[in-house]
Amino acid sequence: MPAAADASAERIRDVNTRYHDLAADSYDSKWGIDFGETGRAQVTAKLAKALGHEPGAWGDALEIGAGTGYFCLNLLGAGAIRHVTATDIAPGMLRALRANADELGLDVETVVTDAEQLPFEDASFDIVLGHAVLHHIPDLDRAAAEFHRVLRPGGTVVFCGEPSRYGDQIAAVPKRTAIATAPLWRRAVGAGRRSDHGGSDPDYGHALEAEVDVHAFDPKALRLTFGHAGFEDVRIRGEELLANLYGWWLRTVESTATPEEIPQRWRVFAFRSYLSLQRVDSSILEPHLPPELFYNLVFSARRPG
Ligand SMILES: C[S@@+](CC[C@H](N)C(=O)[O-])C[C@H]1O[C@@H](n2cnc3c(N)ncnc32)[C@H](O)[C@@H]1O
Repeated sequence: MPAAADASAERIRDVNTRYHDLAADSYDSKWGIDFGETGRAQVTAKLAKALGHEPGAWGDALEIGAGTGYFCLNLLGAGAIRHVTATDIAPGMLRALRANADELGLDVETVVTDAEQLPFEDASFDIVLGHAVLHHIPDLDRAAAEFHRVLRPGGTVVFCGEPSRYGDQIAAVPKRTAIATAPLWRRAVGAGRRSDHGGSDPDYGHALEAEVDVHAFDPKALRLTFGHAGFEDVRIRGEELLANLYGWWLRTVESTATPEEIPQRWRVFAFRSYLSLQRVDSSILEPHLPPELFYNLVFSARRPG
């Protein structure tokens, strides 16, 4: 849910930094982030969907809001990018990214920075990319101008996993259903109620959660923003409908249980069924329905050569 309209840009940046710093340690497990074959296949498919063709291999990539590295480490592992500078406003996220990169034996540069003021020379990168980050940035016009500035002429910008306005509204339905069905679900899987749920969770910063999201996008407005920044060939597609409804329900019911008491059997079942719904979305629904109906938007554009 977008933050209050009167929240200042400075406050939004500060809350994003604190919230994501707190979230860093448990981020990968909360969101089921995978750095193996599954994760690499997911990000390559997202990139292909955004571009409208199979990704090539870019030389210098810049990731905005890289978090723990879901997008760039998997793209590096898959060979879609050769060198990456991973940036984020939250230092804790980049520490987690570095630990993941070390474990995977991947080489990355990390830079703590706000997307609206990038500390890089003009025309330094072949591709600027990001996943689930634009909706946190207060001044998107300024950020898009920065992406354009640091890209080499002919370079590509790609963002995936950005919430659509309609998708953001329908996500409220599985969340409400999950709250209502959580006691039944906990009984069925044999997990106890999390004692701190519903209060202020010091490990995850629930109190800050409502303040970190500032946009949910209308595809037409997104197209205009990047067009005004000087980009061409803006291409926008929708992604995930059933998978997202299920994903929100899953995350919400799971967040009500004591994590150690959620059986591994359940976690495996939940992850596999989520992937199956993703396949239904991408093979049946995405090719036929307009982007604004989906929970996420993926898009690409080009800096003219
Ligand atoms: C939802 S997380 C996504 C992380 C990662 N891209 C992923 O998909 O797992 C959003 C990330 O954007 C970062 N972020 C929020 N506001 C930002 C800003 N103004 N500039 C740069 N990064 C920002 C957060 O710290 C966080 O790591």
